[in-house]
Amino acid sequence: MTIGEAPGKIILFGEHAVVYGMPAIAIPVRTLRARALVETIEGNPGAVMVEVKELGLSFWLDEAEDFKPLVETIRILLNRLGLSTDQCLRISIHSTIPVASGLGSSAALSAALLRALADHNGNSLPLHEQSSLVYETEKIHHGTPSGIDNTVIIYDRPIYFQRNHEPEFIKPDKSLTFLVASSGQPSLTGEAVAGVRERWLDNRPQYDSYFEAIGSVVEEARSAFSAGDLKILGTMMNRNQELLEAIGVHTSALEKLIQAATKSGAAGAKLSGAGLGGNVIALVTPATLSEVRDCMLDAEATAVYTIEVDP
Ligand code: PMV
Repeated sequence: MTIGEAPGKIILFGEHAVVYGMPAIAIPVRTLRARALVETIEGNPGAVMVEVKELGLSFWLDEAEDFKPLVETIRILLNRLGLSTDQCLRISIHSTIPVASGLGSSAALSAALLRALADHNGNSLPLHEQSSLVYETEKIHHGTPSGIDNTVIIYDRPIYFQRNHEPEFIKPDKSLTFLVASSGQPSLTGEAVAGVRERWLDNRPQYDSYFEAIGSVVEEARSAFSAGDLKILGTMMNRNQELLEAIGVHTSALEKLIQAATKSGAAGAKLSGAGLGGNVIALVTPATLSEVRDCMLDAEATAVYTIEVDP
């Protein structure tokens, strides 16, 4: 039996603009994980049984009519890995990453599947190849993924990312603590990205200027992240949030969480990921953490996660 694992992720700065070539910053979320197990079982050669334990699901890949993204992901990976069809396989999946909430559930699951399948096949793929394969599967969710999710998840390190550039690994001088609060509303990446594209096509000069402004925020945030400068980092989160509002991916539930965080002492707060639901991320200190967490729970966060970024 082989096992593959991958962490969740969260985008700190630059979502959406990153699809249009601007830089962005993301970090892994190691407390949330996707895991896949692959084993050979008795059965027809080439047949693949898929099990998702938490959902009580079990189905043959060839007969699957639902769970399209998962089925398509497995098909793409089997195909790209050229996995031999002389065995019957069982793939068991287990993930603690909430789906449709900007925490990288699809890319992490795909990375875990890829690692378990490649290992089963005796392949050891370099990280950049793993990242491109997971990128292929990310296209199932929306046609123009920037590549940030697969990159941060595969490399499992904080990154400064720009499309068609090598990722740059970054780390803070001092520990940073973030709280991630879930709004309970699903964030549908494909829909949010398509909406931004439509508005960009309607008014390119305006949207290009929003994207460039986000790009400048990311540059300042990168220096503040490295220096562990909470004041500037928080200010940049708030500025990035204003620009995300301008491009139309905000919701009132997210606003409630942002207000709760900033009023209770967070250094800054913004939505994270595609928006239209999903999560808010807030920058805190050991002194403000519990007050901000409580206030976000009072503001109807359905879950709050703590993320530490170590120097
Ligand atoms: O999957 P999410 O919700 O973290 O959103 C991905 C971030 C976007 O910039 C909106 C899309 C992309 O491909 O980078």
